[in-house]
Amino acid sequence: EKGGYDHFMMKEIYEQPSVIKDTYRGRLHSNEGLIKMAGIEDNLEKFTNAQRILIIACGTSWHAGLVAEYVFEEFTRIPVEVEYASEFRYRNPIINEKDVVIAISQSGETADTLAAIKLAKEKGAFVFGVCNVVGSSISRESHAGAYTHAGPEIGVASTKAFTTQITVLTMIALRLAQAKGTLSKSDFHRYLSELEAIPEKVEEALKTNEVAKEIASVYKDATNCLYLGRGYNFPVALEGALKLKEISYIHAEGYPAAEMKHGPIALIDEQMPVVVIAPKQGHYDKVVSNVQEIKSRSGKIIAIVTKGDEQVRNLADHVIEIPETSDALSPLLTTIPLQLLSYHIAVMRGCNVDQPRNLAKSVTVE
Ligand code: M6R
Repeated sequence: EKGGYDHFMMKEIYEQPSVIKDTYRGRLHSNEGLIKMAGIEDNLEKFTNAQRILIIACGTSWHAGLVAEYVFEEFTRIPVEVEYASEFRYRNPIINEKDVVIAISQSGETADTLAAIKLAKEKGAFVFGVCNVVGSSISRESHAGAYTHAGPEIGVASTKAFTTQITVLTMIALRLAQAKGTLSKSDFHRYLSELEAIPEKVEEALKTNEVAKEIASVYKDATNCLYLGRGYNFPVALEGALKLKEISYIHAEGYPAAEMKHGPIALIDEQMPVVVIAPKQGHYDKVVSNVQEIKSRSGKIIAIVTKGDEQVRNLADHVIEIPETSDALSPLLTTIPLQLLSYHIAVMRGCNVDQPRNLAKSVTVE
């Protein structure tokens, strides 16, 4: 049942190339320059006329929502807000019929997310669900939706659900950008072919497993860990930290790299591992100076870089190389080594990777 892997989590990490493909198959037609998703086509005007898109989710799905915020705003110029479902539902939110709500949930059963979309519907908003489990409560409660095709996710730590959520949300953003004319034709076509090339590149990113394992053996006894990223990779930093916390019980925090100087930099000493997400595209020079700041305070740097990178390599204690892609799609690749790193650390610490303490796969309590 674990397909030869020791844990479901590892099996699910390795399924990502194929489930990302399953998620765009039949929807993304790069030769014809088309994205077709029934739930979007049937409601295209609602989306293109939206005064705002509100994304509601919890946990890892909330992180996928944050990535989507960057992608939607860049591609479609529609203002986006991302909210924790649990906060949204308890604060008399300002929302009306001109808002489109996207609810993201792997299980489709998360109680807070379900309650939040019921509230949004009462207030007249159009609710679009992005769920993995077919026929789940959230998918039924939404006006329309698009499924991720990740297949069953058993490990409590969400992995393939995250990357397939990003895949669906990126396709939606691209389709809306096409309809609104907010992305040039050439950029639109370039993104379609780049998205199509992602599974192969994820496959390559998975080859970092051995390096990730080596690095894990160095830091398995750490008590704290920082994750830094900027732009599209800031949510990936949050997700990397969440993954480490939930399965290895090491305290970890994700931060936008530029926020370091506003507080967290005080934590840095030779005991502190800092995972820096520094792909070539996207604020690279800024991230390099953040890396220098950590280095001068003797922090231990684990950097996720684009293949062939030299500048960060010269400063970092460890590097993990991933293939090149455009900035907006990079979270689909930068996430992979972070999943592997947490996995190996948790295994080395003797933790129950698939069923971490105090956690359940779907949180149906409020
Ligand atoms: O099923 P959902 O996507 O609604 O679940 C949301 C969170 O409970 C979930 O992502 C949780 O944070 C995971 N354990 C993260 O790995």
